[in-house]
Amino acid sequence: MYYRIFSAKKMRFQDILNYKLIYILLIANIHALSPDPKLFNVWGPGLHPQDVIMPARYFFIQAVDSNNNSINHSLSSPLQVVIDGATAKKTPCRIWTNILDRKDGVYIVRYKVYEQCSYIKISIVYENEQVAQSPYIINQPIYPDNCYCPKLKLKELLKVWNSEKVPAQIKKDFNQFQTIDWDEMRPKIIKEFDKPQSVSLCHYIIKDNQIYRKCYGKYVGFNMFSDSILLSLARKAFLPDLEFFVNLGDWPLSSKNLPDKFPIFSWCGSKDTNDIVMPTYELTESSLENMGRVMLDMLSVQGNVKDVWEKREPKLFWRGRDSNRYRLDLIGLSKKYPELFNVSLTNFFFFKDEEDEYGPKSDHVSFFTFFDYKYQLSIDGTVAAYRMPFLLGGGSLVYKPHSRYYEHFYAGLIPSVHYIPVETNLSNLIEKIEWAKNNDAQSKIIAENGQKYANDQLLPQNVFLYYMHLLNELSKVMTSKVRLFNGMEQIHQKNDIICDCLTNDNDVKDEL
Ligand SMILES: *[C@@H]1O[C@H](CO)[C@@H](O)[C@H](O)[C@H]1NC(C)=O
Ligand SMILES: *[C@@H]1O[C@H](CO)[C@@H](O)[C@H](O)[C@H]1NC(C)=O
Ligand SMILES: *[C@@H]1O[C@H](CO)[C@@H](O)[C@H](O)[C@H]1NC(C)=O
Ligand SMILES: *[C@@H]1O[C@H](CO)[C@@H](O)[C@H](O)[C@H]1NC(C)=O
Repeated sequence: MYYRIFSAKKMRFQDILNYKLIYILLIANIHALSPDPKLFNVWGPGLHPQDVIMPARYFFIQAVDSNNNSINHSLSSPLQVVIDGATAKKTPCRIWTNILDRKDGVYIVRYKVYEQCSYIKISIVYENEQVAQSPYIINQPIYPDNCYCPKLKLKELLKVWNSEKVPAQIKKDFNQFQTIDWDEMRPKIIKEFDKPQSVSLCHYIIKDNQIYRKCYGKYVGFNMFSDSILLSLARKAFLPDLEFFVNLGDWPLSSKNLPDKFPIFSWCGSKDTNDIVMPTYELTESSLENMGRVMLDMLSVQGNVKDVWEKREPKLFWRGRDSNRYRLDLIGLSKKYPELFNVSLTNFFFFKDEEDEYGPKSDHVSFFTFFDYKYQLSIDGTVAAYRMPFLLGGGSLVYKPHSRYYEHFYAGLIPSVHYIPVETNLSNLIEKIEWAKNNDAQSKIIAENGQKYANDQLLPQNVFLYYMHLLNELSKVMTSKVRLFNGMEQIHQKNDIICDCLTNDNDVKDEL
């Protein structure tokens, strides 16, 4: 190519153009430093699989160049990650590995361990060079999440996970319950909420690390979520003996209008109630079923975006059902300002007679499609929209109308830093979308902050931790003695896998 250009007697216009192009590419290459695998940043709980046992382990890789500057686009060659190991019988350990490309220079590696491994090796290679400290060799037993191998007490496990800080919302919630005497509270709660048609509530007892419950209500299928998380925690640590109530419904129960404050665990909190919030069943399930039954989780949502902020369409994208009048108002707004929106209702149930005006309803789209667009809206349905964590995780800019409802992580979100606040009635939504369109760089920063918050607070490990703290704080305030009640059912571990729980903490066991 060079030869042809420089040896030509007469440079044709096309050649001059080519020459210029090569020159530009050369200059560009000098300035864009190439990736330097040794300097890549690698972090996350998946690098400590011996301590942090989860259904899917995960870690992050940030690509950087030789000046240690973050690379903000996908690498040009594939990142090669191989995670293998051996069982005690020296057979290869069964591990499934999955690499997610966030398209912004960050990669998420997650892997699922299907059997007990006596060691594992994580090797990360880019263009034949080892990345950072790769290979990472963990020469200790690695348990799959379904092993029943608790070794430490709950509060000791919190130490091992290096997360002793109690989340702000838990502190706030327990502030109003400095002591809980269930012998006094229990009969009152059962009397108040044993309303099978409208309330679904489960009474749980944890005793000697076994789980028991009795549910009240007609629709109690959602106890599968509370059961699963409690069983999972009991496999990881010796839980204190505890008593508590879990509200399976969406609406918080412990109304401020009632004569007593009831410490009931609920998926959703509100300004009008005293319930103690826990992560929603949606987020809980996606943490438990990461690389399992669910497609959408806090990691997959980041790895399935089509492109970076710059390439996303500057419109507000939304889909959902008609479970709130304001959602109809949103459709109304979009009809006036079609250039700013791609929104539609997917189902008419509550406002069936208004389908002509606010329809047509649209087909289901994959949640990952949402992030082809720059702007997202977390608008309440019956209660808080449980998709908020996933909206933050996708790296688009989240608009959030003021609401009386909140989830367990809202307390740490700062308006205009992590998301854009809007009026409940959406009266300033147009103005705020226009602002984002005119202030793209700032909008991108808020979107990134939101995603960072999600990665710091809402990943599976954080969800496990939240429940761990919740139970630990509860154990501190309970004054009544834990005993079993007639009619309680024991929730058994599945025991579908045989593990050799090598314990070097026999003293803990003896103590129990
Ligand atoms: C590269 O930057 C990261 C923070 O962005 C820092 O933690 C790390 O120490 C830096 N590495 C070197 C070799 O300077
Ligand atoms: C990546 O970073 C460079 C240098 O900071 C910047 O000029 C460029 O716009 C960024 N690209 C994207 C897609 O963010
Ligand atoms: C709205 O978004 C969907 C999904 O991305 C797309 O198929 C459709 O063409 C969009 N509609 C308009 C009017 O842009
Ligand atoms: C929307 O809510 C704001 C703030 O509460 C209020 O000032 C405004 O009058 C409302 N607008 C409409 C059209 O209801």
